[in-house]
Amino acid sequence: MIRTHHCNQLRPEHIGQNVTLAGWVDSRRDHGGVIFVDLRDREGLTQIVFNPEKNPKVAARAHGLRTEFVVAVRGEVVPRLPGTENAKLATGAVEVMAAELEVLGPSETPPFPLDDTAVNEDLRLQYRYLDLRRPAMVHNLRARHRFAQATRSYLDRHGFIEIETPILSKSTPEGAREFLVPSRIMPGEFYALAQSPQQYKQLLMVAGLERYFQLAKCFRDEDPRADRITELTQIDLEMSFISQEDIFPLIEGLLQEIFRATMGVEIPAPFDRMPYAEAMNRYGSDKPDRRFVMELHDVSNLFRESAFKVFRATLDAGGVVKAINAKGFASITTGQIEEMTETAKQAGAKGLAFIKVENGEWKSPIVKFFTEAEKAGLTETLGIEEGDLILFGADRWETACTVLGRIRLLVAEKLQLLTGNDSLNFLWVTDFPLLAFSPEDNKWNAVHHPFTRPKAEDLPLLEAGQFDKVRAEAYDVVLNGVEIGGGSIRIHELDLQAKMFGVLGVSEEQQQRLFPHLLKAFSFGAPPHGGIALGVDRLLMAICGTNNIRDVIAFPKNNRGQDLMMGAPAPATARQLKELHLSTRS
Ligand code: AMO
Ligand code: AMP
Repeated sequence: MIRTHHCNQLRPEHIGQNVTLAGWVDSRRDHGGVIFVDLRDREGLTQIVFNPEKNPKVAARAHGLRTEFVVAVRGEVVPRLPGTENAKLATGAVEVMAAELEVLGPSETPPFPLDDTAVNEDLRLQYRYLDLRRPAMVHNLRARHRFAQATRSYLDRHGFIEIETPILSKSTPEGAREFLVPSRIMPGEFYALAQSPQQYKQLLMVAGLERYFQLAKCFRDEDPRADRITELTQIDLEMSFISQEDIFPLIEGLLQEIFRATMGVEIPAPFDRMPYAEAMNRYGSDKPDRRFVMELHDVSNLFRESAFKVFRATLDAGGVVKAINAKGFASITTGQIEEMTETAKQAGAKGLAFIKVENGEWKSPIVKFFTEAEKAGLTETLGIEEGDLILFGADRWETACTVLGRIRLLVAEKLQLLTGNDSLNFLWVTDFPLLAFSPEDNKWNAVHHPFTRPKAEDLPLLEAGQFDKVRAEAYDVVLNGVEIGGGSIRIHELDLQAKMFGVLGVSEEQQQRLFPHLLKAFSFGAPPHGGIALGVDRLLMAICGTNNIRDVIAFPKNNRGQDLMMGAPAPATARQLKELHLSTRS
């Protein structure tokens, strides 16, 4: 062994012992010839002293040390001089008086100071192996490790078998755009990288495995965003002979175990539940952040006869008028109103009507159209007081809800309603719609995926073609306004699955081409089954307290999907392309 102790180990009880430490020079300070080095390894820091009066040769060599050199140091553990102890450091009561020094690996000057958190992220990613030396990053990777350990142990105790499924798979219209991989052996044919193990895990249920899980890598060729990456990890699981009521407590227990193991916190269960329609109505989102109130109110009934054309016309066309009260935000600037209107428009709004209540007066371009009765109704419904800002959305129900849901989050950000709030607010969102009409595709698409089961009581609606009214046996689990997991009870009957494909416009021929395995499998005795997948990276963001998903991944791509360290993606050689029967157009 090059070392006897790690750098977070020495305490007063080691005083007098001769020890050897090894690690990186975190910092070097020259105090009039006496050199102090903070030596760092994975575990922490220990101060080393090179004293020219005690050991001139070694002290002279210590002058040549620079940050990030890897060294081994042998010496005696001594108490720090009274008054120089460092209470912030676990090893701060002692130091090592160096008697020998060996440079194991010199270092060039790092391209950025490792303790500077404001460094450009692309630079950090290019030198990720240096970036990962930062204690905060080591902390995150350890949390990820404990997360995985806790998951495996818990699911093993609950009868789950960990099974790996292929990454090179087949393209299926399951949702996200896929990465394609050309086959060398089969010219002109392609694998798709699995966007989730969804079909494999269902086939494992048909195979009779009953309880499967996997820490699964999933690949989705989407534009990366704050909490959306192309290469994500899921805790993916599937169970046979169960209902939603079996999945919820199992996942609550799993999340409790994960948060205990990583953060040492006890999260209360069972989690609250809320149907999708209520989440949209009250929070304008299918992943409501309930750490603050500011709910949406439906004020349609106040404006059925309104003189304000925007509201009246929306209501006449079957839409709704919804409003939120941003309490105490009458101080909003014109610039902020414009920014909010822009956000509203991006979410599909035609405008963002507002009222500021200042000096006892309602200030707004639209108030002139309101009757006293309408004003009184608004005051009562929204609890309007001096200093409030009221914001309106008039549109189709879903658009109005979504728009105000976005505005609600933006207001919370501007008013800093969440600053210092580190609570963990879990919620099950249930009863999602089965289908959503896509105007672009001019057809109905599955909200979750095509294998999701319609609610038994809504089957007549499916038969009757009332697709917008059919609810699914689908559920999401939400943490602080982030969707951290989603799943469903599946269709396991051949005829129902064929019916569902029919509604989705997947023709008989396409079904046989795309899903022959699944349809065939269902003809050989398929058990009722269902499951869920939890987003590991998103959960770790909450656990590690970061809003940058890349901070919880060892080697992430940047926001353009590039691996700047390895230099991927990169052009292929002419020979590689030829072998793959490909040519590129420039
Ligand atoms: P879904 O697509 O909802 O379901 O994914 C499940 C969970 O995975 C996380 N997630 C992501 N995290 C980061 N970046 C992404 N691009 C990303 N996409 C998804 C989310 C999400 O809730 N096969 C189904 C699960 C099932 O039905 O059992 C599936 O993949 O936290
Ligand atoms: P207009 O009559 O179009 O000038 O709109 C008057 C006010 O209503 C402006 O503040 C618009 O931003 C707002 N507005 C217009 N359409 C809508 C809508 N569909 N929902 C909410 N506010 C709207």
